[in-house]
Amino acid sequence: MKMKAIVHKKYGLPNVLELKEVDRPTLKKNEVLINVQAVSVNRSDWEGLTGTPLYARFGGILRPRHKILGSDIAGHVEMIGKNVSRFQPGDEVFGDTSFRMGGFADYVCALEETLVLKPTSMTFEEAATIPQGAVIALQGIRDKGQVQPGQKVLVNGAGGGAGMFAVQLAKLYGAEVTGVDNTGKLDFMLSLGADHVIDYTKEDFTKNGKLYDLILDVIANRSVFAYKRALRPNGSYFAVGGSAARLFQILLLGPWIRRTSGKKIRILAVQPNLKDLVHMTELCEAGKIVPFIDKRYSLNEVPEALQYLGEGRVKGKVVIIVNLNNNA
Ligand SMILES: NC(=O)c1ccc[n+]([C@@H]2O[C@H](COP(=O)([O-])OP(=O)(O)OC[C@H]3O[C@@H](n4cnc5c(N)ncnc54)[C@H](OP(=O)(O)O)[C@@H]3O)[C@@H](O)[C@H]2O)c1
Repeated sequence: MKMKAIVHKKYGLPNVLELKEVDRPTLKKNEVLINVQAVSVNRSDWEGLTGTPLYARFGGILRPRHKILGSDIAGHVEMIGKNVSRFQPGDEVFGDTSFRMGGFADYVCALEETLVLKPTSMTFEEAATIPQGAVIALQGIRDKGQVQPGQKVLVNGAGGGAGMFAVQLAKLYGAEVTGVDNTGKLDFMLSLGADHVIDYTKEDFTKNGKLYDLILDVIANRSVFAYKRALRPNGSYFAVGGSAARLFQILLLGPWIRRTSGKKIRILAVQPNLKDLVHMTELCEAGKIVPFIDKRYSLNEVPEALQYLGEGRVKGKVVIIVNLNNNA
């Protein structure tokens, strides 16, 4: 059977994306076939489209391994594989398919263990904002950061998909939060609860003399020595994303900085898991964390949505509404 999908056969800018009729994915025994209702756009989709940073070419140096991008999906279960026990056709589910992508399409196959039931109180588009960004935030703020009340936390890239959850979560944990992002996102970061905001186009947070217990960084674009300078004694820095060169420098020098100064500078390797996804969903359901949707697009507008993200204009998340008539 055929379906509509946004396909790219080479790395490039959004103009390499095409709306095509392609074969519906074939269901394996431990998978669920989902009729996609909504899919949110992540920076990892931009990275997969452009092939930068270099690690985005993992498994496909010259040509993309994933021809259909999109990983934070929400939709109806259409069919289940013979080993699937937690879902049945008609269930409303959502989850993170980032190991195989495929969400910018009418249908996607996902491993059963990557999915949870969508709360009835939540729309598909709300659910689609949660998986990747919220789990990054939880593992950065709660697990690795072990944030305590009164601590000073800085989120670099706080106006984006993961940052929006990280700021709100750090506030829930009682921290004093500084958000860093571009000029157009300062008010947005304040609306998320940030106590202080810094415009990265005007000020370098590693040079203003302020120190933090935790820095969670979604774009790691400075040297490890700059991050070390901005940490309090025994403070921690975690890079979530950034250039391959920066991440390599952190891997190489982080252990030495730890030994010589007591400051921790590490990469946060996020482990997607259902427990964390459910926890963050419950916080959203309870209204303790509010995902913000900046704009909505239809499936054929995925290139525009990615362009908007690439231009650095998205506050929080943009969402692709795949089935406009069915998104309750
Ligand atoms: N470590 C892991 O295991 C793991 C797992 C999943 C994903 N990831 C990575 O995590 C990252 C998640 O990003 P996301 O989805 O939250 O991205 P996003 O929504 O694009 O947010 C990034 C934010 O950073 C801002 N920014 C850009 N340059 C900046 C600078 N110099 N200083 C401060 N802020 C700056 C961006 O603003 P502009 O609009 O100005 O660009 C944007 O608001 C991606 O790189 C993804 O690959 C890592």
